[in-house]
Amino acid sequence: MVTRIMHISDLHFGRPLAMSRLNALGESIRELRPAAVAVSGDLTQRCTEHEFERAAGFLASIRKVAPVIVVPGNHDVRWMWAIAHSLGLFRRRRPGFKYRRYRRHISRELNPSLELSKAVIAGINTAHGISRGSLTRRIRDLGVIGHVPRRGLEKAREAFRRADPGAARIIMIHHNPIRGEISGRHGLANTEEALAAFADMGVELVLCGHDHQEAIHHVETTERGLVISTAGTISNRLRAGRRSSFNVVEITDGEMEISTHTWERMKGFRPSMVHTFRRSAVPHSA
Ligand SMILES: [Fe+2]
Ligand SMILES: [Fe+2]
Repeated sequence: MVTRIMHISDLHFGRPLAMSRLNALGESIRELRPAAVAVSGDLTQRCTEHEFERAAGFLASIRKVAPVIVVPGNHDVRWMWAIAHSLGLFRRRRPGFKYRRYRRHISRELNPSLELSKAVIAGINTAHGISRGSLTRRIRDLGVIGHVPRRGLEKAREAFRRADPGAARIIMIHHNPIRGEISGRHGLANTEEALAAFADMGVELVLCGHDHQEAIHHVETTERGLVISTAGTISNRLRAGRRSSFNVVEITDGEMEISTHTWERMKGFRPSMVHTFRRSAVPHSA
């Protein structure tokens, strides 16, 4: 039996949204009929109510086909206003301000989990804006970079404990732990600690986005190693020379296959690259 998960990211409802690609994505979801659709953040561009409403409408349409799990991205968090609130620049204190719109329109849970027949996905919120765990000396990354907090790891551990012990353990975060080939940027401030914690939890696969360039990596954090699926963006915010894409993960008892589906004008999304890993997570073909 195959467990198929569609991994999509960085839809960026708002100006960067590409309607033809969004419609084609909906068609692909209906054709592929996955066991779940995993959305690794950046649903909006400017975190506005209107963008969230549109994103929520799209998620509702795909929930008719498959269960959806989603985590916030840095674009879905009102961190600048939250800082202004915490500095007392407004008369009324509003706790939880940062995620209020995300929670209202998308999900109350920032660290959700979803159990499938042969896999369990635990989402961890890595989008915290400027916060102690996400501080960086790179000015342009302030508020952009993310981190995996201890609380998120605890929630993931709980989800894994509750699940069938034979289920493949999958983590979903927004920020890319592996440096982007074109961007040259890491998404996470605490990559090494996070990957070591994932390996310690028996995680086989990490789903992420944020870099807007698709990539499949195998990292040897332990003997078993970790597979990292970075989904590209569906939006117009493309890296030079890249096309929109999403990844499809297929898990059987012995293997995990990840195929990247790339946008082709007039044809829609078509499989362009396949990576296969043994469930011991050692790649044996590409
Ligand atoms: Fe993004
Ligand atoms: Fe992002």
